[in-house]
Amino acid sequence: MNDGGARKPDYGNWVSIRLLVVPGILCIIFAGASLVLPLLAIAAFLFLFCFGYFAYARYVFSPKGRDLQNKIQALVMDSLQWDGKGKVIDIGCGSASLTIRIALNYPNAEITGIDNWGGRFEYSADKCRRNAEIEGVSTRTSFLRASASAIPASDETYDLAVNNLTFHEVHDVKDKRDLIKEALRVLKKDGSFVFQDLFLWKRVYGDVGELLDAMKGWGVKHVTFVPTNDNEFIPRALKLPFMVGTTGIIYGKK
Ligand SMILES: C[S@@+](CC[C@H](N)C(=O)[O-])C[C@H]1O[C@@H](n2cnc3c(N)ncnc32)[C@H](O)[C@@H]1O
Repeated sequence: MNDGGARKPDYGNWVSIRLLVVPGILCIIFAGASLVLPLLAIAAFLFLFCFGYFAYARYVFSPKGRDLQNKIQALVMDSLQWDGKGKVIDIGCGSASLTIRIALNYPNAEITGIDNWGGRFEYSADKCRRNAEIEGVSTRTSFLRASASAIPASDETYDLAVNNLTFHEVHDVKDKRDLIKEALRVLKKDGSFVFQDLFLWKRVYGDVGELLDAMKGWGVKHVTFVPTNDNEFIPRALKLPFMVGTTGIIYGKK
C-alpha cells in the first residue's frame, strides 16, 4: 500500500497529541501548587488520569498498538454496497486514510476528500495530498477545505458518500442530523452511503430507530444500522460514549 518503502504515508492518530500535552501540563502545575495547597493534589491526580487514559487510547489506535483506527475504518469498507464506478465524497477525510483506501480498492473511482482541517487534529490538505501521492492514487483523488455543513457541490453529484467519525466533530451545526441531510443532498438517486459515527449517543442523535425512520423521509430507499461498539477487538476502556462506546454504521441507498 506504499511506494516500495522509500516514503511512508502518515495517517496520524484520532487522539491528537494535544489531548496528552494539555492534561500533562495541568498535572505538573497542580502538582507544584499542591506543595502550597495540598488539596490541589486531587486535581493533579485527575489530570494525570486523563493523561494516562489518552496516552493509552493513542497507543491502542496506532499501528504499533492494536491498530484500532485501521480496524474501525475497515468496517466502513465492509459495509460498502457499490459497483466501484463513479464519483465519491469522503466527508471529513482527515489524513485521507479512508479516501485512499477507497481509491486503492476501486480503481475506477474518483474521490474528493473534504475537511475543515480546523487544528484539533494533526491533519491537513498537504498531508492528504502527500499520502495520496505516496500511495499512487493522486490522479484520482482531490482534497478541498470545506465544512460538512455546507458541502461545495450541487445536488446529486456523487455516486457514493462516506463519512468516518466526523459528524460529531462538526461544531458549526447544532443538530448533527442536518449533516446527514447535507450528505444525502449531494448523493445521486440510487447512490450509496456509509456513515460511521456516534449514532448511539442519544445526546447527539436522539434515538437511532427514529433517526433511521427520519432518513426514509429524506428520500432514502434502504437504510441499515450496525453497531460498531460490540466488536470484540474494541477494548472495554474505549467504550466510553465519546470514544467508541456509542459508535455504529448507517449504510444504504438513496
Ligand atoms: C476523528 S477524525 C476522522 C478523520 C477521518 N475520517 C478518518 O477516518 O481518519 C474527525 C475529522 O473531522 C474533521 N472535521 C471537524 N469538523 C469538520 C467540519 N466542520 N467539516 C469537515 N470536517 C470536519 C476533523 O478535521 C477531522 O479530520
